[in-house]
Amino acid sequence: MSGITYDYMESYIRDLIPEKQGVLKGLKDFAESNSVPIVQKETANLLEFFMSLKKPERVLELGTAIGYSAILMAEASNRKAIIDTVERDPNMILMARENVKKHDYDKNINIIEGDCLEVLEKLQGQYDIIFMDAGKGHYNHFLPHCLRLLKADGIIIADNVLFRGMVASKDLVKRRKITIVKRMRSYLELVSKDETLITSVLPMGDGIALTKRRNE
Ligand SMILES: C[S@@+](CC[C@H](N)C(=O)[O-])C[C@H]1O[C@@H](n2cnc3c(N)ncnc32)[C@H](O)[C@@H]1O
Repeated sequence: MSGITYDYMESYIRDLIPEKQGVLKGLKDFAESNSVPIVQKETANLLEFFMSLKKPERVLELGTAIGYSAILMAEASNRKAIIDTVERDPNMILMARENVKKHDYDKNINIIEGDCLEVLEKLQGQYDIIFMDAGKGHYNHFLPHCLRLLKADGIIIADNVLFRGMVASKDLVKRRKITIVKRMRSYLELVSKDETLITSVLPMGDGIALTKRRNE
């Protein structure tokens, strides 16, 4: 039970999406056998969809892990997009660097070492897509920086916003997760109530919020 959607719906949708082969299959198998959290299949598919739709020049990712989603996005852009991805765990950084180098993505993927909030505070530039996939309890703190770094027609894709359903139902909330849940609700309220933004929350994967600036 994902707490987000029906199991039969999730498995039906997942079965529609072709399995990745090659590099991405290898990374996914490694992640599964070593309990490394990576994007769910339907979320990966959505990222590919937006890469195809927006043809971004620059993408910012918060949360690299072993580099699965960064490589997926680089591949989806036919190695045209530049992807800056932030990670603080030294083991993950080591593995991500190895994966990026081994599969020749060094020209597309820059791994930025450090805590997302500290990196965001100093980061400059403008991004077409910002993918939030780290620091679930801090999306509300990341938001002002992400908006500063977002191109006028850019999009923020935030993963895990329904957090196993806990964000939407108090019956599902685990006591030790209450802070994350409250902060995630605060993120969703911020992006939903701000009249300069438009947000769509998708009950798929672990919950995804798509946010962009409203057209003037
Ligand atoms: C869900 S994983 C990212 C998965 C990756 N996007 C993928 O799908 O292949 C989240 C990663 O964010 C890192 N992380 C968590 N909080 C962070 C923070 N505040 N700053 C930087 N990295 C963080 C964790 O170490 C972990 O590797």
